[in-house]
Amino acid sequence: MNNSCEHTTAPVVRPADLNDVQAIFDLIREHADDLIIRSFNDIVQNIDRFYVADLDGEVVGCAAWSLLPEIGELKHTAVEIKSVAVRRPWRRQGTGRALVQAVIDRVVPLRVAQLFVLTFAPEFFRSMGFTEIPKTKIMHKIYMGCINCTKHANPFTCPEVAMVLIPRHDATPKPATPQES
Ligand SMILES: CC(C)(COP(=O)(O)OP(=O)(O)OC[C@H]1O[C@@H](n2cnc3c(N)ncnc32)[C@H](O)[C@@H]1OP(=O)(O)O)[C@@H](O)C(=O)NCCC(=O)NCCS
Repeated sequence: MNNSCEHTTAPVVRPADLNDVQAIFDLIREHADDLIIRSFNDIVQNIDRFYVADLDGEVVGCAAWSLLPEIGELKHTAVEIKSVAVRRPWRRQGTGRALVQAVIDRVVPLRVAQLFVLTFAPEFFRSMGFTEIPKTKIMHKIYMGCINCTKHANPFTCPEVAMVLIPRHDATPKPATPQES
């Protein structure tokens, strides 16, 4: 791993591909205190839901998303933003923001009702327009993820902060391909 910060170019945020799996796996494991560890296979099966920050071929950051289960009430569909990390030497240069913005740009056209995150970095997400909500508002997440957590006995005493962003949707859907004039 290259720990220097001597690059003159900024990382490029791009969709991940299977060549990135090992680097994403390592990056998430390096942030075990802040992120839920994900298995190699979980990353493989969800690689189309990851973005990476690529600096001259080296992955220095990643972000991912997933749709939460919903039965019947489509007006409440929610995306969770997860696995957001930037290697320390490249922080505070806008890379985390670019990764999360890539996820937002990807999922908003799906017309989801809300994007949320459980995070130890509330200032970062606040800077992107997320606002804090009570964990009781995201019980489906607590059922899906927190129920298997080995760090804290109770999601309501866990210090992670729940935050939400409500996207604005255009009234008219965009055409799949540009119209010729
Ligand atoms: C959170 C994290 C992804 C931010 O990455 P980053 O590349 O440093 O973020 P950016 O440079 O895009 O920051 C954008 C804005 O967020 C805010 N911000 C970012 N890190 C912050 C911090 N540690 N404290 C306060 N505000 C912070 C600032 O407003 C910043 O803008 P500014 O630098 O112009 O002031 C990174 O610190 C990280 O990997 N942390 C460990 C893993 C983690 O906690 N992930 C989130 C869990 S989902």
